[in-house]
Amino acid sequence: TQRFGQWIRYRESLPSTQVLAHEWAKEGAKEGSLVVTEEQTQGRGRMGRFWHSPPGTGIWMSLILRPEITLAQASQLTLVGSVALTRSLRRETGLDIRIKWPNDLLIEGKKISGILTETRGEQDGVQYVILGMGINANQTESDWPEELREIATSLAIEGKKQYRRRVLIPAILKEMEDLYDAFLDNGFEPIRILWEEYAAILGKQVRTTTHRGVIEGVAMGLDSTGALLIRQGEKVTPVFSSDIEY
Ligand code: BTN
Repeated sequence: TQRFGQWIRYRESLPSTQVLAHEWAKEGAKEGSLVVTEEQTQGRGRMGRFWHSPPGTGIWMSLILRPEITLAQASQLTLVGSVALTRSLRRETGLDIRIKWPNDLLIEGKKISGILTETRGEQDGVQYVILGMGINANQTESDWPEELREIATSLAIEGKKQYRRRVLIPAILKEMEDLYDAFLDNGFEPIRILWEEYAAILGKQVRTTTHRGVIEGVAMGLDSTGALLIRQGEKVTPVFSSDIEY
């Protein structure tokens, strides 16, 4: 039986599904518990950014996971999530969805989805992970503030039809559960290969700022830990979570 989505807390409106998911996890929510909302008033993006989450048009949800992995492996879960989201949405829509490092989903360079993973635990193990997913499903251009129109798009704009969230959500959860189980059973390597298959940036010139300074080079792929490999001449540098421009 399917575990993911077996327990759901649905709300008309929330500040952020992440917040309710953290509370529920602390109360002992089972793995696969899902928080879904129509609208977020304080949707969170990566790096402290705001995530625009207007009512009725998108999929705003947070999945509670309890993997038996180390904290170091937890970043790989984000990549599992982005691959699962890509595969399920490609299958459901037929659109050419690609992954930008580490976990933005793009159609022709414009963002249709983002993933935010928040992990709680100690060095020796993870207590729980909240995998937050934001999917621009049925927005039209007028749903966005001016400054987002150039960088964001939706499945509906690209596919020229409305998508039913009650069809998309189960498809996403099924793929998520399958790949998550595969990751726990077989490790990261199969996920790494799939990620590279869908990657938007491989072979491209990229630029990123890390705590060690600016790194500019060609995106080569992922290493076995999930870091992005950037080649500058003879030198290859692994980059962990950061933003990439290209
Ligand atoms: C990003 O690309 O910066 C990640 C965006 C993640 C947005 C989702 S929407 C559901 C969940 N709740 C939040 O507040 N954020 C995530």
